[in-house]
Amino acid sequence: MRIVLVGPPASGKGTQAKVLVERLGVPQVSTGDMLRAARAAGTALGKEADQFMSAGKLVPDEVVIGLVRERLALPDAKKGFILDGFPRTVPQAEALEELLSGLGTGLDHVVQVDVPRALLVERATLRRTDVRTGQIYHLKYNPPPADAVLEHRDDDREDKVNTRLDQYEAMTAALLPHYQAKGLLRRIDGTGSPQEVTRRMIAAIGA
Ligand code: AP5
Repeated sequence: MRIVLVGPPASGKGTQAKVLVERLGVPQVSTGDMLRAARAAGTALGKEADQFMSAGKLVPDEVVIGLVRERLALPDAKKGFILDGFPRTVPQAEALEELLSGLGTGLDHVVQVDVPRALLVERATLRRTDVRTGQIYHLKYNPPPADAVLEHRDDDREDKVNTRLDQYEAMTAALLPHYQAKGLLRRIDGTGSPQEVTRRMIAAIGA
């Protein structure tokens, strides 16, 4: 199955993608994770992306499109994928369509996760990630174990979160009519427990 998860920062895309990976047996492809890895490795691409990510702004389309093209060419993505955080703009969506049509395939579902803005700020600012396992925690809703080695993302400070939310509304929201017109868009309520959101997600994609 080929799925795109769309939703504002901290709406729970990464949390749900990890559940779908287990259930569907296809890889999660997160452009945010790939960009953070490139930044941590100090590659030229990582350095270029850093200036945008640190400011809470979108990285240029050609950079992320190149990353996704390389990632989807790997063997484990042949049977499907969960795209998390890509595409975020209409040009990215068009590039993905071109790429998939060159492979003789297309998307099955685009799932939009809806969460009110006030809750998103709380989810982002209290998010912590275990650097050893990649597991995502939340200091209030999903507290980490005592031995976790926690990272607080620099773009999860409140001012950056607000910039990211503004960017989402200004740039990514245009994607929704694009996918609606193609009959691919499914909307789910992203509030409630992660398990409740998973149930809605599974129902939306018929998995
Ligand atoms: P990226 O890493 O993709 O960030 P994002 O879209 O802002 O999404 P997040 O990772 O913040 O949140 P999420 O929806 O995955 O939520 P999570 O599951 O962690 O991108 C970072 C940056 O990279 C961008 O700003 C941009 O600069 C660049 N970038 C990436 N892709 C790009 C692209 N395509 N084009 C251009 N630039 C790009 O959950 C959040 C928190 O809430 C966690 O603490 C979690 O435990 C908690 N939580 C989750 N679900 C629930 C629930 N149901 N109830 C309670 N708590 C919950």
